[in-house]
Amino acid sequence: MTAFTYRNGTLCADAVPVSDIAAQVGTPFYVYSETRLRENYRAFYEPLANLKPLICYAIKACANTAVMRVLAEEGAGADVTSGGELERAIHAGVKPEKIIFSGVGKTPEEITAALKLGIHQINAESIPEMRAISAAAAALGVHAPLCLRVNPNVAAHTHYKIATGEMGTKFGIDAAQLEEAMGLAKSLPALDLKGFQVHIGSHLYDYNNFREAYGKLADMVRAWRERGYDLTRLDLGGGVGIPYDGQTQAPFSDYAAVVHGTVGNLGCELAFEPGRRLVGDAGALIARVVYDKRGAAKRFLILDAGMNDLIRPAMYEARHSIMPVKEASSDAVAADIVGPVCETSDLFGEAYLLPGVGQGDLVAIMQGGAYAAAMASTYNGRALVPEVMVSNSTFRVIRRRITVAEQIGWEEG
Ligand code: LLP
Repeated sequence: MTAFTYRNGTLCADAVPVSDIAAQVGTPFYVYSETRLRENYRAFYEPLANLKPLICYAIKACANTAVMRVLAEEGAGADVTSGGELERAIHAGVKPEKIIFSGVGKTPEEITAALKLGIHQINAESIPEMRAISAAAAALGVHAPLCLRVNPNVAAHTHYKIATGEMGTKFGIDAAQLEEAMGLAKSLPALDLKGFQVHIGSHLYDYNNFREAYGKLADMVRAWRERGYDLTRLDLGGGVGIPYDGQTQAPFSDYAAVVHGTVGNLGCELAFEPGRRLVGDAGALIARVVYDKRGAAKRFLILDAGMNDLIRPAMYEARHSIMPVKEASSDAVAADIVGPVCETSDLFGEAYLLPGVGQGDLVAIMQGGAYAAAMASTYNGRALVPEVMVSNSTFRVIRRRITVAEQIGWEEG
């Protein structure tokens, strides 16, 4: 089932007309489908089930605790990248033994907090970080369960700002330094090296990139086992894409086949860190057209949502699908769909056809579950918009609007 469909001519999230939500909470707002979140988790888990995967939701994609709770109920753990995300995951009821701590710049305080909780795994991305993890673990009298994030030097076909698997990016330990890192993992007594992690980028649609990276990882495991290392874990990161406007994506079963074919027979426990694939299409940003501006050269539909609410188009040239909330079949005059923020990059769709949509009407910007609310800001003095969770025929506000008055309060202590 898709989360967002027309029923009786109006766009619904599950069974709830989004116009009903708009009437109650005002616009703009984010809406998520609980049903879709659960379906996405199962669709990820099932083709990999025989490998007994640990699926740690990369909560950076959407860190709302209600979203996390739904996925945790399905069995997901969490991949966190800061002390703040760690706190959120614990608050949402994720068990420490299902938490992986990623990121290139974990501070000693964050590492200590994670070790005290007894999390499943810390991924180290550099030699100085390995030393910091060891020092924190030694001070607590524990062993740190460690994976080394390796940089496999694999190109990922995605936007250059979210490719992470090539030499020269800040991510992972380069092959040339692995010898030193492996020696250190053995010599520092508070480190308990379990295996390797790899994450070559986000929103990948060419699964051959994964094949190459996972293949290299499998070779590494074999080579280091021969040298006496007891490697029992592989963390395959995230990165599986979803279709945005006009895009297609190979079926998830193809990705699962890559996993099985490259690392399936190593006898390692496997972990995954999906973000976008679990939440991306489960959310939408609902906005209202403030003005239908007919310029001399172009028509603009100016929304009450802007790049501060959804920065992906401005930041990655992303194109999300846009749908009218009231279904219409009439011919449309193409318009640029823009926000109110004072930047030309505040543009959601170019020469877009939205039949039946004019001033005062509602529109839905789709694929709004991942890196959407999570990356929002208050730029241009704007409120942070509400988030709403729909469960079949009911909905609830899972984050209320954070008003400008409240924001002023932050500055005045
Ligand atoms: N694991 C690590 C170590 C990561 O850095 C990321 C994403 C993930 C997992 C989850 O990747 P996913 O499955 O969601 O592709 N803001 C950008 C995406 C940034 C991704 C950052 N790291 C966007 O809106 O496209």
